[in-house]
Amino acid sequence: SNRTFTMIKPDAVANGHIGGILNMINAAGFRIVAMKMTQLSAAKAGEFYAVHKERPFYGELVEFMSSGHIVAAILEKENAVEDFRKLIGATNPANAEEGTIRKKYAESIGRNAVHGSDSDENAAIEGDFFFSGLEKF
Ligand code: GTP
Ligand code: MG
Repeated sequence: SNRTFTMIKPDAVANGHIGGILNMINAAGFRIVAMKMTQLSAAKAGEFYAVHKERPFYGELVEFMSSGHIVAAILEKENAVEDFRKLIGATNPANAEEGTIRKKYAESIGRNAVHGSDSDENAAIEGDFFFSGLEKF
């Protein structure tokens, strides 16, 4: 597929990095298909990250992801999922390469600035979680 899904997480929104992150996304050749700023309830954040519900950090993750505004977006580019994972960098910013969004903006493994879908299937599921058909033109 040529689409992926991203969120700018509450740490990056609170720290004023929406513009800087969108600039990096645009400079890497992604088209913004759909975008909105919103705040997840704890229940909705728990649903979004349900795949991690047995992990020790799940409670912390849900609390953090519902703690403030996020920016959700669907992005389009050839090889979108893989290329976007490269652009965001490693989950732990201590391991993220120079030039990646997490290297520049992430504070820690928990407060790591951005989400990127890990498969074409999840990109579609996650995009549908936030956007209606009419919004995904
Ligand atoms: P996402 O794009 O947000 O899905 O990150 P990822 O695919 O790089 O990592 P993964 O899906 O394995 O984990 C989801 C999110 O859980 C991460 O982005 C982190 O915010 C959080 N997370 C992962 N491992 C830890 C951890 O050890 N401690 C804490 N506090 N959070 C973690
Ligand atoms: Mg993930």
